[in-house]
Amino acid sequence: TVKAVILVGGPSRGTRFRPLSMNVPKPLFPVAGRPIIWHPIAALAKLKQVTEILLVGFFEDFVFREFLDSCSAEFPNIHFKYLREYQSLGTAGGIYHFRNEILRHSPQHIFVLHADVCCSYPLAEMLAFHEAQGRGGTIMGTRVERDDAHRYGCLVADTETNEVLHYVEKPETFISDLISCGVGVFKYSALFDTIRAALEARHQQMEEDRAYEWPSRSTETDDYDVLRLEQDVLRPLAADHQLTVYVTPSFWRQIKSAGSAIPANAAYLDQMLQSHSTALTPPSSATAGPEIVGAVSIHPSARIDPTAKIGPHVSIGPRVTVGPGVRVKNSILLDGVDIKPNSCVLNSVIGWRSKLGSWVRVEGTPVSGRHDLEAITNAGVKNQSITILGQEVVVADECIIRNCIVLPNKELRSSFHDDILM
Ligand code: GDD
Ligand code: GTP
Repeated sequence: TVKAVILVGGPSRGTRFRPLSMNVPKPLFPVAGRPIIWHPIAALAKLKQVTEILLVGFFEDFVFREFLDSCSAEFPNIHFKYLREYQSLGTAGGIYHFRNEILRHSPQHIFVLHADVCCSYPLAEMLAFHEAQGRGGTIMGTRVERDDAHRYGCLVADTETNEVLHYVEKPETFISDLISCGVGVFKYSALFDTIRAALEARHQQMEEDRAYEWPSRSTETDDYDVLRLEQDVLRPLAADHQLTVYVTPSFWRQIKSAGSAIPANAAYLDQMLQSHSTALTPPSSATAGPEIVGAVSIHPSARIDPTAKIGPHVSIGPRVTVGPGVRVKNSILLDGVDIKPNSCVLNSVIGWRSKLGSWVRVEGTPVSGRHDLEAITNAGVKNQSITILGQEVVVADECIIRNCIVLPNKELRSSFHDDILM
């Protein structure tokens, strides 16, 4: 059997996702109508070998309870559980800390997935590739622009065998444009043997420090449990010829800042369009509904005026109301948003229960490139590219809000651009 661990991180790490993470932990933020981590979960659930999905992080216990209950109902063949780290243990520390739980019922392979990426999750193909290769681990790779490679784990691979010859985490100088996507699958033995070896090496180092009467480091026992998947597992596996790369044939990107929810939303909606998903709102036909352009997901409880024009790449949450003549494109409207007549929302996230008056224009600049561009620099001034309104923001009639981040509960009575409104 196969198990999966999803690294969900913790509250302190969501700062770049503000102001949206002030109301919901980032892994549960909805893109394409579903929480970010629902997408990899749904992909894992398609593999008949997967029996259990464990979320590992340092959020409080209650945070994922309701979500995991709904997952258990939707995917009844899979067991779900949240495992809480007592502090941030790094990308491999939690895996080691909860090794007994993870190894229960003796899974042969373990998927390890980052929660802050989005991709098409070709996991069946990746698992088949991993099993055929027969090495300790397989990581998903993709190519990025040369100038962006330093933001990621970079790999050099043998073009014939796909063996990873070198792995370097966020190198300062250019090594390769092939990067690690934050999706891996490992033989259980390779994963835990490598972690154990890393711990032994660390232990030895501490003994040596002690011998040299260097007590400051050995007393920091907290850090002793912190392990990094990248440096402590991937690097040694590569050095041991035990790592291969599966290059994904499809889209991949990170979801770091709040603005990156918009391209992630677009990518998932396009994927749903290609697979003829019934979760999408059908394109406007002879019916009297609003004009729907391209991939759009509208919750059944939302009320959209028939003269509105929506899409492409729009997700509309529960209980949203959209008035006559409204235009929405490349945006996410969260639960309970209310938009009065003739307003326009482009390249933006509109927070829970925000209210836009009539003839309002909320607009961002679409993000290009695949890495997480949270700001574009314009003559030395940092501009927000995607406009984000936090929860319960009110925008008065006829105001234009362009390239702004607006914190929750603000009331905007005039126009703003290129600003962070606190
Ligand atoms: N449980 C837990 N505990 N999860 C954690 C912790 C921790 O202490 N620290 C980070 N994570 C989770 C994050 O929530 C995220 O899903 C994932 O681990 C990776 O986050 P970062 O540590 O911030 O790394 P990164 O995103 O900058 O880079 C990593 O991912 C890239 C792909 O997105 C590296 O693995 C790169 O090599 C890789 O290219
Ligand atoms: P596409 O042809 O869809 O790519 O549009 P575009 O790139 O020429 O225009 P843009 O991206 O600026 O705007 C997207 C859509 O929003 C257009 O189809 C416009 O009709 C509509 N739009 C732009 N501004 C407003 C506005 O102030 N109010 C309303 N109701 N619609 C607007």
